[in-house]
Amino acid sequence: MSPDDPGHDEVFRLLVDTVEDAAVFMLGPDGRVVCWNTGGERVTGYCATEALGKHLSHVYLEEDLASGLPQRVLDEAEQQGQARTEGWRVRKDGSRFYSRTLYTALWHPDGRLRGFAGVTRDITARRETEARLREAQEALRRNELLSRMGALVAGVAHEVRNPLFGISATLEAFDARFGHSPEHAPYVSMLRREVSRLHQLMHGLLTYGRPPSTELHPCTLSSVLHESVDLTAALAREREVQVEVRAEPGLPRVPMDPSRLVQVFQNLLANALQHSPRGTTVRLTARGLADEAGPRVECLVMDQGPGFSPEELPRVFEPFFSHRAGGVGLGLAIVQRIVEEHHGSVSVGNGPEGGAEVRVFLPAEGGVNAAPDSGGR
Ligand SMILES: Nc1ncnc2c1ncn2[C@@H]1O[C@H](COP(=O)(O)OP(=O)(O)O)[C@@H](O)[C@H]1O
Ligand SMILES: [Mg+2]
Repeated sequence: MSPDDPGHDEVFRLLVDTVEDAAVFMLGPDGRVVCWNTGGERVTGYCATEALGKHLSHVYLEEDLASGLPQRVLDEAEQQGQARTEGWRVRKDGSRFYSRTLYTALWHPDGRLRGFAGVTRDITARRETEARLREAQEALRRNELLSRMGALVAGVAHEVRNPLFGISATLEAFDARFGHSPEHAPYVSMLRREVSRLHQLMHGLLTYGRPPSTELHPCTLSSVLHESVDLTAALAREREVQVEVRAEPGLPRVPMDPSRLVQVFQNLLANALQHSPRGTTVRLTARGLADEAGPRVECLVMDQGPGFSPEELPRVFEPFFSHRAGGVGLGLAIVQRIVEEHHGSVSVGNGPEGGAEVRVFLPAEGGVNAAPDSGGR
């Protein structure tokens, strides 16, 4: 059977029609469709009668037409024998699909170009799956790295803690014996300050390095908020700052490790209090949201201090980033870590009046009205 025999086209059509998940087609040397399988309709929306005679540029985006992409691809196929191309194309209904096409140049026995055989697959879904897979692998890699780093940090912190307790105890003994002497007193108080800073650092490192909670149980958030307020009450008194908590009644429960989540709000409240001028108020609010992101709770910690400076905003979650005198810089890093363990997110910014605003989103169990908590303790 010669290639020009009409029977050849028929066999070709039957053959390529069995390929359902790809457009298998042939273009003339001018780039116009001369053969088109049923898979072509599935991929592009054009049936064979619509496709025949159409130029391949029909499925290309405006910007690709402007840059002459379709002709470049055919030129490459003609010169190299084959050309592969990948990118967004347009279906008959105007929607876009991500295509992967292989063009192969076909020749007459006398050496003239006969046209191009093309196979196009719609890989939009595969591409999305691959992107999701890459994201998941990246998250896994980051988690592994964090947990390995966490184990190292926790190990070091643990080793440092013992001599540190020894130093503290010796310092207490020294203070009891010599603290009253004006000669020694300044050294004792300086040593106390530094030892307390080391204790804070070790506590922060151990908290940061703790392995993530694997089991989260749905609990009421308002009790977590109130507990963190209790834990920072002494600091609030010392700073002469009011703390106001408003948890919307009927908040949905949040799958959580309560003690870890208390640490989040304790750190955020401590920051707010440390940056609040005397006589001002720190506000902690929680409300339920049920939008396209699913049922979740939004918590907001607001203060009336100077707020975050624009330069520090992008860096405040970095471990050891601190602009506060005596700060260790682990407070917000710990917050982010724990919130992510709860599959939530945290962002920082400033309110309209300039005070800092830290927003925490936590995924809730069920809908906003499902298993509501009382809003109290
Ligand atoms: N409420 C706030 N208002 C203004 N700046 C803040 C506030 N909370 C945090 N910051 C800034 O973010 C930095 C990092 O905070 P954090 O991680 O808690 O570490 P630390 O408190 O030990 O400095 C702080 O040093 C401060 O510069
Ligand atoms: Mg802090």
